[in-house]
Amino acid sequence: MNTQNDAIRKAVLVTGATSGIGLAAAKALAGRGFHIIGAGRTLERCAAAQAAVSAVSAGGLVEYVAADLSVQSQVRTLADIVRERLAGERGLDVLVNNAAFVSSWYMASEDGYEMQFAVNHLAPFLLTRELLPLLARTGAGRVITVSSGSHFRTRMRWRDVMFRTGYQCLFVYKQSKLANVLFTHELNRRLGSQSPVRAYAVDPGLVDTGIGEKGTTGLVKWIWSRRRRKGVSPEKAAETIVHLATMSEYIDPEASYWKECRPEEPSPYSRREREMTRLWELSERLCGIESGDPSVRDFASAFALTGEREPILIQGGGR
Ligand SMILES: NC(=O)c1ccc[n+]([C@@H]2O[C@H](COP(=O)([O-])OP(=O)(O)OC[C@H]3O[C@@H](n4cnc5c(N)ncnc54)[C@H](OP(=O)(O)O)[C@@H]3O)[C@@H](O)[C@H]2O)c1
Repeated sequence: MNTQNDAIRKAVLVTGATSGIGLAAAKALAGRGFHIIGAGRTLERCAAAQAAVSAVSAGGLVEYVAADLSVQSQVRTLADIVRERLAGERGLDVLVNNAAFVSSWYMASEDGYEMQFAVNHLAPFLLTRELLPLLARTGAGRVITVSSGSHFRTRMRWRDVMFRTGYQCLFVYKQSKLANVLFTHELNRRLGSQSPVRAYAVDPGLVDTGIGEKGTTGLVKWIWSRRRRKGVSPEKAAETIVHLATMSEYIDPEASYWKECRPEEPSPYSRREREMTRLWELSERLCGIESGDPSVRDFASAFALTGEREPILIQGGGR
């Protein structure tokens, strides 16, 4: 069990920390003394969230960075800023990949990728890759990626992962949440059992947030506006994230999928090695990670390469 004094020295990066589950998780961890780095997509919403999280902080620093995670250069710059902010500190204890987006129609990101796949999967993949050395530095780093029970009812659509044809909002969302679980499994597999970093996927259940109303119209928006009322509060949903972020010991490395503060069995499909590897290799290509770049197994030594850099304002961020 961590004491608050232990927690005061801990740092967490929460993406999508301006509303819903991410904001609730940031508040709960701030209340336990964590140094919070929250990420959101607009400066205005970041400022409001920073004030709300600071108000409940138990003395840890609370800072926010505005970055549009659909843009890979902004994901990389966010990682640069986090490295800069934590230079001289013990490292990054926890990365919570929480930000996500639902869109009724096909939208291409600035990099030319389907928007839900870009924000919900490629951004966590790239941000995690970038921050692994910093997570490893703490000796017990955690990567918590917020997935969904909807991953059970889908498969990867390999012939057209970006849904350039036959776009259907919910299929695209479910695929991105399946990608979160495949990514978590493959990351743990590549890290190996002795790794100083472990990855977890979280199913928050049905939660009363605005996720299904922001980028949607018509029937999808209408259905979500009613369905969300049956969901639990964001604070309740954030409990599993807080549990994983604060538990003192790693548990069974096989326990990588969590719901209501307990490990659960994810879909059998999400444990298929062939699918995990295929997604990993595709994601590397889509993020421009060269075969000569440090592999995940090399990451512990790689942080020497990613030491101190000048902070850069995220071009186009915080619109
Ligand atoms: N709600 C549910 O029932 C439910 C169920 C299963 C899984 N989940 C998962 O829970 C996580 C949190 O969702 P939520 O329900 O709390 O929804 P939410 O309130 O809409 O939170 C999503 C967060 O992501 C941010 N975001 C969206 N697009 C972004 C972008 N391009 N760049 C940077 N940040 C971006 C949002 O910023 P803004 O504040 O500016 O919108 C917001 O902070 C997601 O991963 C979601 O898939 C939710």
